[in-house]
Amino acid sequence: MTHDSLTIIRHEHRALSAMLRSITLLLREHRRHGTLPDFDALQAMLFYVDEFPEKLHHPKESRLLFPKLRGRSVQTDAVLDRLEREHAHGECAIRELEHALLGFRTMSGTAQCEMRRDKFEQLMRHYADFYLAHMHVEETQILPLAESVLSAGEWAELDAAFLMNRDPLAGHEAEEPYKPLFRTIVAALHGCGNLGSVLEAFAGTALPMYADDAPAPRRPRP
Ligand SMILES: [Fe+2]
Ligand SMILES: [Fe+2]
Repeated sequence: MTHDSLTIIRHEHRALSAMLRSITLLLREHRRHGTLPDFDALQAMLFYVDEFPEKLHHPKESRLLFPKLRGRSVQTDAVLDRLEREHAHGECAIRELEHALLGFRTMSGTAQCEMRRDKFEQLMRHYADFYLAHMHVEETQILPLAESVLSAGEWAELDAAFLMNRDPLAGHEAEEPYKPLFRTIVAALHGCGNLGSVLEAFAGTALPMYADDAPAPRRPRP
C-alpha cells in the first residue's frame, strides 16, 4: 500500500536531487564557456533549497518520521543518528554556500573572480554529493523499514502531518506565491541547455502549467 507521506518524501527527494544536479550542470556549462552564470537564477535555486528542503523537508523527517522508528534496533538508531547529524550539518552548509555565492557575485568583476568561482563550485559539489548520499540512505534503509514496521494508525498520523507541510514546488502544481520563483528557475535551466529529466523530476505536475510562458526547452548538447 502506498502512503501519502512516503509519496511526498519521494517527490521532495526527486525535486531536491534535480535542483542539485541542475545547479552543478549550470556551473559546469559556464565554466566550460568561460562565462559568468546568471547569479539571480543561482540565488533563486539556493533560496529554494534553503526554504523548502532545509526548512521543511528535513524537519518533517526529524520530527515526525524518525521518532516512530527509534528504539527498534541498535543499527537503526545508528542510521537515524547519522541522518540527524546530517540534517543539522545541512543547515550550516547552506549558509556557507549562500555566502560563497554572494562572494562570487560581488567579486566577479575583480581579479578574485576565478578563485571565488572555484570556491563556490567546490562547496556546491560537496553539498550536492552529501545530500544525494543522504537521500539514498533514507530511500534504501529508512523508508523500507517504515513500510514494514509502522501501524495503520501511525501512517494516518504521518500522512495527515505530511500533507499539511509540503514543498510547494515538488510533485504538484506550484503554490501561487512561488510561481515567480519557479519561473526564474525554469528559465535558467532552459538557458543552460541541460533539461530533460531534471526539470521533469523537479516539478512533477507543475511543469505543464508553464508550457505557454516558458521558453521552449533546448536539446542537450551531444
Ligand atoms: Fe533527510
Ligand atoms: Fe529526506
